[in-house]
Amino acid sequence: MKRETVLITGASRGIGRETAKLLAKENYNIVINYEKNEISAKKTFEEIKEYNSNVLMIKADIRKKSEVDKMFDEIEKVFGNVDILINNAGIANTAFFQDISEECWKDIFDVNVNGSYRCIKRAIPNMISKKYGKIIGISSIWGVTGGALEVHYSATKGAIIAMNKALAKELGYSGITVNTIAPGGVETDMLSNVPKKSIEAYCSEFPLGRLAKAIEIANVIKFLVSHNADYITGEVINVNGGAFI
Ligand SMILES: NC(=O)c1ccc[n+]([C@@H]2O[C@H](COP(=O)([O-])OP(=O)(O)OC[C@H]3O[C@@H](n4cnc5c(N)ncnc54)[C@H](OP(=O)(O)O)[C@@H]3O)[C@@H](O)[C@H]2O)c1
Repeated sequence: MKRETVLITGASRGIGRETAKLLAKENYNIVINYEKNEISAKKTFEEIKEYNSNVLMIKADIRKKSEVDKMFDEIEKVFGNVDILINNAGIANTAFFQDISEECWKDIFDVNVNGSYRCIKRAIPNMISKKYGKIIGISSIWGVTGGALEVHYSATKGAIIAMNKALAKELGYSGITVNTIAPGGVETDMLSNVPKKSIEAYCSEFPLGRLAKAIEIANVIKFLVSHNADYITGEVINVNGGAFI
């Protein structure tokens, strides 16, 4: 069977890096995308290279259609088409709603929602012609419940859920599944500016009482992209330590 090719956006760090490393242990071609952090991307790349030589590292800002197109052209040249797209890259920040500038609002949508749109748009023609593909979106608990001080981020993460549910309905007939994971807080750089006290307060309110490790999200992604999950589509998998039950 031909090796499937997985593109993981934002795989230089955090959840994306753990996912790339985990999937590289399976029979996949791996594409590590990143925006600017070349040192971290290289670290992911070198670690993977030790056990899977079918790995590419591509710098592309998903805000830019031209860079997304160039990234897909390069993947297609080396591996053929993308079989599995993991729309993981994302940005976040906290602010009172009245302090969120229009520029900031637009930028977070441009990465979290429009970036996913651009990658999906490029990935699906080949998936449709092969009648096979898997698309995973990474939303957030705040995309499900809404998070104070993160209205803009919550709005993008809610949009990802709605987009992926609609896509699942549209693309299922073409053999493509589309699912979303909604993690609670995860120990990555994304939370590095959140005060320790706020994290403790957040964790004190749910049964498992701690942040997730990035690998715990990667494990769920690994299942969803595997053939064990071929009959699952349009789902939102909450991986949040029981934050709401
Ligand atoms: N951490 C959490 O608590 C948490 C909770 C729920 C959901 N999530 C979601 O999970 C996903 C991964 O988060 P994380 O915590 O692993 O984040 P992270 O550690 O901050 O890493 C973010 C990744 O996204 C990449 N990226 C950012 N903007 C990009 C752009 N314009 N184009 C291409 N790549 C870009 C970064 O690349 P560079 O290294 O080049 O900057 C990096 O690889 C995000 O969608 C996030 O919203 C995170």
